[in-house]
Formats: sequence, structure tokens, C-alpha cells
Amino acid sequence: MLNLGILISGRGSNMESILKSIKKKKIPIKPVVVISNKPNAKGLKIAEKLGVNVEVIESKGFKGSRWQYDKKIIEILTKYGVTQKNGLVCLAGFMRIISPEFVKKYKNRIINIHPALLPAFPGLDSQKQALDYGVKYSGCTVHFVDSGMDTGAIIIQSIVKIKENDTEETLSKRILKEEHRIYPEAVNLFARKKINVSKRRAIIS
Ligand code: GAR
Repeated sequence: MLNLGILISGRGSNMESILKSIKKKKIPIKPVVVISNKPNAKGLKIAEKLGVNVEVIESKGFKGSRWQYDKKIIEILTKYGVTQKNGLVCLAGFMRIISPEFVKKYKNRIINIHPALLPAFPGLDSQKQALDYGVKYSGCTVHFVDSGMDTGAIIIQSIVKIKENDTEETLSKRILKEEHRIYPEAVNLFARKKINVSKRRAIIS
């Protein structure tokens, strides 16, 4: 069975939905560690409650390069068996750009959730970007991580219709509900080896 490592920075609601789905739906993957770059991330307590090991590598004040920081993450992943051969790394609200070296080492083994229909509205505050632009539909995307910003092959997307009276808060809430549905689904597809990447396309069998 594959080993799963989840990287978070805050609330951890996507992490929670993945961990709970693994228990309920029997996704064939073993959640072995949750790592946060922030010591006070709320998600750490949730992970502990759900019986998953937690680790913190504080990024604030870290003196080295991005790759030196990521090497510390890899050390921990490796310690728990989340390897290039049998690991999956889920970024779940992990608010750091990861280095090209990390991406290369874990090629097609790092996935991320983004609160917009990529390639629209990458980066931060995607729900606000969508409202400011005036699109009628937005949503969320689970994708492989490559060395660009929110540019890797897309695994699953879900559409959310924007209402005339939506605020950033109301829209974010409806998108988050979809995030909690599609992220565990993507982990399940990966764990069951149903995703094949060909150029930019993640083909689901
Ligand atoms: C989620 O909405 C996720 O899509 C977003 O941060 C939130 C984390 O919430 N990620 C990004 O914007 C990445 N660019 P969570 O900690 O409750 O899962």
C-alpha cells in the first residue's frame, strides 16, 4: 500500500476530508504523516485527533534556500516511508511554493488543490480574483504539481456557479464544499493507480 504525507499551513479542512475519507471509503493508502510549516496550524490538532503523526518545520525565519527547506521536508517524508517509489504527497492549503528539485524528486507524486478552475486565477485569493473578473462560473482543481505556479496536469475539476450576490466568503464556502469532495476522489484514483500522465494530460482509466 502507498504511504501518504500531507503538507498544510493552516485550517486543514482538506486534509481532514482526505483523512476521514480514507477511513470511511477505504482508500488503499496509509496516511503516515502531516507536516506543517507553521507551528500553530489548526490542522495539526485535527490530524493528531485522527491518529496521524504530525511534524512541524517552521518556515518563518528559516535561513537557508527554498531547496534547503524542502530537503528537511523530504527527510521527514522519507523517515515515514513517503518515498519516490511508494509515496504520495498532498499539498492541502500548503502556502509555499516548492522547489523544482523537490518536484523533480517526487515527479508526478505531488498533488495540490486550488480554489479555481485552472488555468484561470492561479496564485493567491483565487475566489476574489474570480469575483473581481466577473466570471459566471468558478470552482476548484486537483492537479499534479510541476515547477510552475498551479500549472501541472489537471486530475479533477468541479464547477461552482457564481451567484449575483456572492461575496468572497459565500463563494469560498461553496467552492470548499466541492474541494472536500474532489480531493479524496483524486487520492483514491492515485492510490488505485488509475491516473496516467501523458504530456499535459492526466488520463483517468
Ligand atoms: C483551500 O481553499 C485551498 O484550495 C487553498 O487554501 C485553502 C486551504 O484550506 N489553496 C490555495 O489557495 C493554494 N493556492 P484548508 O487548510 O482548510 O484545506
